[in-house]
Amino acid sequence: MAMAELPEGDKLNLGCGPVHAAGWINIDGSNRAYLASRLNQIDCLLVKFGLIPPTEFCKSTKYHNLFKRLPYPDNSVACIYAGELWEHFEYEDASNLTKECYRILRPKGVLRVRVPDSPAFWERYLHLYREEMSKPRNERKAKPLIEHTQMFFNDICTRKKYLGSMGHTHKWNFDEVQLVEMFEMSGFIHVERMQFRESRIPDVDRVEVSGFLIVEGVKQ
Ligand SMILES: C[S@@+](CC[C@H](N)C(=O)[O-])C[C@H]1O[C@@H](n2cnc3c(N)ncnc32)[C@H](O)[C@@H]1O
Repeated sequence: MAMAELPEGDKLNLGCGPVHAAGWINIDGSNRAYLASRLNQIDCLLVKFGLIPPTEFCKSTKYHNLFKRLPYPDNSVACIYAGELWEHFEYEDASNLTKECYRILRPKGVLRVRVPDSPAFWERYLHLYREEMSKPRNERKAKPLIEHTQMFFNDICTRKKYLGSMGHTHKWNFDEVQLVEMFEMSGFIHVERMQFRESRIPDVDRVEVSGFLIVEGVKQ
């Protein structure tokens, strides 16, 4: 893949969570990001007295709820990275966010999104199911299927009470087909599935902490 130069401009790390990368604007909309960035002294006191655990969020974290319009003018930023964020939005909301990214990127700017690979999750379910079904009926065990299903509903989809996952749970299942189409429908070109840390963004290693389904596209 030919690596065209990124345009000048800010680099945004959306839904940064604990990944605070040097040289990037790290943006998050969680309650803790609000506390640590806007009320930092109170956050520090609460940590000091052991009332809340330490956090990577800090004064330089930019607090922003990504359901809202991105606080950047049209054609102003160089690249946008989002690791494990798109799945926290329902399809239409993720599509709107993709369009917002297109709006604020400069021409030749890059959007890169990393999400859980849902086909891999459900392939594992089908594998477990077929394994049990291949056994005589009196030897089948539901436990592995229950555990896999529980992971989806308890840890992934079900809205957690109180501060579980900072109130953010997964709201969509992404795969390569949906994500590539979402990019293309927002106007991106050269949309491709990418390997871990293989990118047009030279310092992607600062924000990309693991693999999964990764799609990248370029603004025309
Ligand atoms: C699973 S973490 C991902 C952390 C990191 N980007 C990574 O790659 O590991 C998802 C992050 O997205 C943030 N988030 C979810 N919905 C959001 C929203 N509507 N606005 C802003 N941030 C949001 C959460 O607060 C959380 O920190």
